[in-house]
Amino acid sequence: MTDARRLAYLEALGVDVYVRRSLPQAPAATVSVPAIERPVATPTPIPTPMPPRPLAPEAALDWEALRAAVSVCTRCALSETRTQTVFGVGSPGARWMFIGEAPGAEEDKRGEPFVGRAGQLLTAMLKAVGLRREDVYIANVLKCRPPGNRDPRAEEAAHCRGYLERQIELVAPALVIAVGRIAAQNLLATDAPLARLRGRVHALGPRAWPLVVTYHPAYLLRSPGEKRKAWQDLLFARQVSGRIERGEPVLP
Ligand code: URA
Repeated sequence: MTDARRLAYLEALGVDVYVRRSLPQAPAATVSVPAIERPVATPTPIPTPMPPRPLAPEAALDWEALRAAVSVCTRCALSETRTQTVFGVGSPGARWMFIGEAPGAEEDKRGEPFVGRAGQLLTAMLKAVGLRREDVYIANVLKCRPPGNRDPRAEEAAHCRGYLERQIELVAPALVIAVGRIAAQNLLATDAPLARLRGRVHALGPRAWPLVVTYHPAYLLRSPGEKRKAWQDLLFARQVSGRIERGEPVLP
């Protein structure tokens, strides 16, 4: 994508002014982004240490069987209020996997993640870094909508975790992007604020999938002034992804 096109997309996101001021003429590869800190250098408090879990029954399922299992799931009470489950969408072999919190009203109606107003902004954010929805994989911590869009409960996330873990295994992404505080805290089992989780590479799960964190587009719709930070996060993700592609270490 040309710089002019990218700037046009950024204008649509409302972050063009920042880009022009802070990235004068510099090619994207030389953009200064926050340095990666070693996760061990900044320990994050773990509220409830999880004991080792037995392998979830879905751990060996293929895509079709996993989708079928999710579609009839009744592990928690959200199955009683959902219209349908919201599995995930995108390329099953994507390099980037975005993980949000839970379906909202529009997603519950259409059965696809991130298709409401926040989803449209996420799609625009992807475009800003030259990606289409079908180039990445998009899923949520929860596969069912919590009534009234309340935050996911710990037990709901725990019931859904095996499904998400299997999705990650099947996609085998180079990079996971946690979309928003709730997703990041759930995935990393931390209550650290988003500001402390951004700008560094975390190791997700026993397989240590590289994970970076960014703002939730719903938050960006409420606080458009923060879009410039989300743009920084995407540049950081791109830089980390480039390092991974070149076989350079991104984790300690
Ligand atoms: N918010 C999310 O976290 N996920 C969706 O799919 C939609 C809104």
